[in-house]
Amino acid sequence: MTHPSNRSFGSIAAHVSQDRLAQRLADMAKIGATEKGGVNRQALSREDGLARALLTSWATARGFAVSTDGIGNLYVRREGSDPTLPPVMTGSHLDSQPTGGRYDGVYGVLAGFEVLEALEDAGAVTRHPVEVVAWTNEEGSRFQPYCMGSALFAGKMDLEMVLACTDAKGVSVRDALAETLSLAPEMQVRDFGSPAAAYVEAHIEQGPRLEAEGKTIGVVQGIQGSRWFQVEVTGQEAHAGTTPHGARKDAFQTALKMVNALNDLMHDPDDIIRCTFGRFEVLPGSPNTVPGKVIFTIDFRHPDAELVKERGDKVAPLIQSLAAPCEVVVKETSTTAPVDFDPAVVDAVREAAEGLGYANRDMPSGANHDAKFMAPRCPTGMIFIPCKDGISHNELEYASPEHCHAGAAVLAETLARLAG
Ligand code: GLV
Ligand code: MN
Ligand code: MN
Repeated sequence: MTHPSNRSFGSIAAHVSQDRLAQRLADMAKIGATEKGGVNRQALSREDGLARALLTSWATARGFAVSTDGIGNLYVRREGSDPTLPPVMTGSHLDSQPTGGRYDGVYGVLAGFEVLEALEDAGAVTRHPVEVVAWTNEEGSRFQPYCMGSALFAGKMDLEMVLACTDAKGVSVRDALAETLSLAPEMQVRDFGSPAAAYVEAHIEQGPRLEAEGKTIGVVQGIQGSRWFQVEVTGQEAHAGTTPHGARKDAFQTALKMVNALNDLMHDPDDIIRCTFGRFEVLPGSPNTVPGKVIFTIDFRHPDAELVKERGDKVAPLIQSLAAPCEVVVKETSTTAPVDFDPAVVDAVREAAEGLGYANRDMPSGANHDAKFMAPRCPTGMIFIPCKDGISHNELEYASPEHCHAGAAVLAETLARLAG
């Protein structure tokens, strides 16, 4: 994976431009900009398409090759000197939460793109090609499962299953993808799963630790496990003024019992288990109709594989046991085991941070990332930078230009080393 090199350490990082990166982040933040200063650029929306078109225009202006695949992952490639070698890859995602921030995902794509530009400006010749990828639908907020793009690349999902997934309005991935891709120029289409020499993803931390400790770089060791469920409780709509409680099939009251029991199941005195009910839809949503349907989601995470299995396996039976007098369907929409990153890549990130003089710490990732799906495929690692007050999945999300620059500089030195 690594090759000896006679370039001097820091020579690529020196070409990473803080201003250019900050400007590109600001330009991308205009696409789907919200009043509160964040972005709404959900997967396979019009805004997602416009963001792809903008990245593509920057790439072609610099002479980099662009390509896509059956799920719309967008690859930007700078060639290496040895055509037989697979690329060293980097990237993240351009899609956002519905009330998302300006950095989650897009920072990793643009930090990667900044490295391509720095390599170009330095006139560097790498043996491996270097590729930046914007993975499709990392967030999973509009379409479940999350990380569709990287999971398909890694051979962990079935394309037909993914294309048939629908959002809450019934729009399929297949239709949304066609519309999104129509906004970007035509480009070469490639197969999933082409070999990769390594994958390194830069991202904001999305938590408070780096900022609290005054550290600039997080050297990420791995990502915790995660299981997502969607629960559909069906009762019977009825008149709120006339229907005795004993005769009701109230989907909301039943769902409430389920949530309370799940909170007990997931209670953790050490506060390591994460359990979130992020979507809770009560239908028909009328004050004087007993709710006939509730749809809610469960996002459960923990770093220990056995606990993820043991506790996660109890979710569906517990919900089923509380369904009467309603009916319930529980669907597991995403399942990912914890992953450990490759020690050589982790060391390369740490050495790049040390060499550039950035205070750093080793740390796990609580959030999911496309790197989780790349880790079983090729040597993988991640670089975190601090974000203000640890806030993310929030329109107020902020990372300073200096920290964005530091992460890109560490990425540049890491990729330069891995790409020979
Ligand atoms: C990605 O944003 C996640 O859910 O961790
Ligand atoms: Mn992200
Ligand atoms: Mn996110």
